[in-house]
Amino acid sequence: MRHILVTSALPYANGQIHLGHLLEHIQTDIWVRAMKAQGHQVTYVCADDAHGTSIMLKAEENGVTPEAQIATVKASHEADFAKFLIDYDNYYTTHSEENKEFSELIYRRLNSAGHINTKDIEQLFDPEKGLFLADRFVKGECPKCAAKDQYGDNCEVCGTTYNANELVNPFSTLSGATPVLKTSKHYFFDLPEFDGFLRQWTRDEGRLQPAIANKLQEWFDAGLASWDISRDGPYFGFKIPDTPADEPDKYFYVWLDAPVGYMASFKNLCEQRKDSTDPKRPALNFDDYWLAENAHKTEVYHFIGKDIVYFHALFWPAMLAGSEFRTPTSVFAHGFLMVNGEKMSKSRGTFIQAETYAEHLHPEYLRYYFASKLSDKVEDFNLDFDDFMKKVNSDMVGKVVNIASRSAGFIVKKYDGMLSTNNAEPELLAEIMRAGDEIAVAYENREFSRAMRLIMQCADKANEYIDEKKPWSMAKEEGKEQEVQDVCTVAINIFRQLMVYLAPVLPELTDNAKAFLNIDDLSFASRNEALLGHQINKFKPLMQRIEPAQIEAMVEASKGSLESTATTAEDVAPTSSTTKQATDSKANTADNQDADYIGIEDFAKVEMTVAHVVECNHVEGADKLLQFTLDVGEAQTRNVFSGIRKFYEPEQLQGKKVICVTNLAPRKMKFGISEGMILSSGDPKTGLVVITLPDECTVGDKLG
Ligand code: 2FM
Ligand code: ZN
Repeated sequence: MRHILVTSALPYANGQIHLGHLLEHIQTDIWVRAMKAQGHQVTYVCADDAHGTSIMLKAEENGVTPEAQIATVKASHEADFAKFLIDYDNYYTTHSEENKEFSELIYRRLNSAGHINTKDIEQLFDPEKGLFLADRFVKGECPKCAAKDQYGDNCEVCGTTYNANELVNPFSTLSGATPVLKTSKHYFFDLPEFDGFLRQWTRDEGRLQPAIANKLQEWFDAGLASWDISRDGPYFGFKIPDTPADEPDKYFYVWLDAPVGYMASFKNLCEQRKDSTDPKRPALNFDDYWLAENAHKTEVYHFIGKDIVYFHALFWPAMLAGSEFRTPTSVFAHGFLMVNGEKMSKSRGTFIQAETYAEHLHPEYLRYYFASKLSDKVEDFNLDFDDFMKKVNSDMVGKVVNIASRSAGFIVKKYDGMLSTNNAEPELLAEIMRAGDEIAVAYENREFSRAMRLIMQCADKANEYIDEKKPWSMAKEEGKEQEVQDVCTVAINIFRQLMVYLAPVLPELTDNAKAFLNIDDLSFASRNEALLGHQINKFKPLMQRIEPAQIEAMVEASKGSLESTATTAEDVAPTSSTTKQATDSKANTADNQDADYIGIEDFAKVEMTVAHVVECNHVEGADKLLQFTLDVGEAQTRNVFSGIRKFYEPEQLQGKKVICVTNLAPRKMKFGISEGMILSSGDPKTGLVVITLPDECTVGDKLG
């Protein structure tokens, strides 16, 4: 028996679970169940990734402590995953005592082995919030094309990449304040020292998929850089131990303690199970799975998305190797989830939360569809709704469940539920049994689509057999009673084999099938004995067809949940070239899956109102801004700052009618709160022209 520990990537504790997470956790869960069904001892752990600036700010926004924030999110993550039948042995949090201890231990070992250095670095700092600003918290004008409102790492208009401190007129997106450059000491993990080790490790047989190993080669060729593992407080995380007394406020960067969360979740499980006598929940020994000297005894696998390969195939094994722990046996990466051939999109209603899906469709439909198309490759996965519906209806309802519904009635009604004692088709049954060997290999190799194809071939054989024998005709003929019972017994036996093969994918359906078949085991080994002279129970439909209206309703419902869906990727260290590479590799996370288009519904949300400029003034201390008091109708005025001072004197705009976006979230700026945006056109570098309206336009009217 093999002893295997498996993990899925830890979801951030500041957003809801969506179909992108589910692709990975369902893939992992199917693999875990398949390996268990083949008799191995498999342990599957996960946790919420609970640290970092985003989570701290989210808690602040919600007016709760970070601890309360992560507890609420964890409960909702667990509930979502349970709906999709993900069977973790433990779902924990990175904000735990165990994780603190292991993170400190690993750090101390790395430090005493000389793998930690410090360096002063200069970063943008928000003087109002008292926070160093990661790139995504700084905006300003692009230093190349002068486009406004660009983030601190690259310009979405001209594509230039730059450092945040090169932005023109930068401001903090957290407070509107102008950031200042500030120096502080950071702690670095000396990744380049592990170059030789990692080059070998990543090339070891079976360690990584070929596409990933090749990608890593590019990174080696570009040269590894030291990894910035510290963040200055305030930060939600663990303090770095043993720092000098005059710098108490250094924290581990969230990505340092996140993978350690795999160990911590497992350690917590070992503790929970220490007195267990239940063979299904066996006692586990932490050291067997994590000490370097025990690496030959056990296996450790991480399932991850391709965007976080850098962390799992470079930083993590180097951290482990440098601190006397074992490294993972393999890291399995998958591609991104696309929906209807495009990035998931909130406006198209294809950014679907787990909860919304489960309100409209059975989770096992999705499990089967994922299985039917997943392979061991790193390719992106396209969830095409039309194909999804056709595939599930045709394979599951039309082929598999149909076998039982076509044969069970006769057995129950005519033979009191008793299967024949005679195996009328030993060769056919043996063939289906033999297919199981290949199916098992396909599961183990994560070639689930191949496994599903083989299973459907078995289902086709069963249906062809029933079509040929026509038990419904035989049942009307005199003297054919035995034959009807024999034929239906063969069909039910094939159905039982299919349930064994599908159990890793469809745990609920196959559990219900167990009740119908009156059996309690669906392990791969259980299939070798045919069910003969065996009593079965009444058949109840095991799966309904998917109706197009269900999908339409889910898409509609997803269009409504724009705000609550965002899962903010944690900041990636802004200060080393290594992490710049990591940033690039994260380019397609859930956050920016909606980058291309907005739908008409989104456009319709922009409220453009005819406004009258009641007052327009210079702003003292701001050489780019004009301040407006706008009458926007219904006796309301708005205070708006606009960066057009270069192009206008206040009196040129005083009294004019302009267009104001009135439902833009108010933005706190250094000089006050801006409560809207005045529309203008042109080039912010060479000249902006405020769009003015004829006098006859009515203040307060909406445009669009
Ligand atoms: O990218 C992410 O969603 C991270 N929260 C994954 C962490 S996996 C592990 F390293 F903890
Ligand atoms: Zn630009």
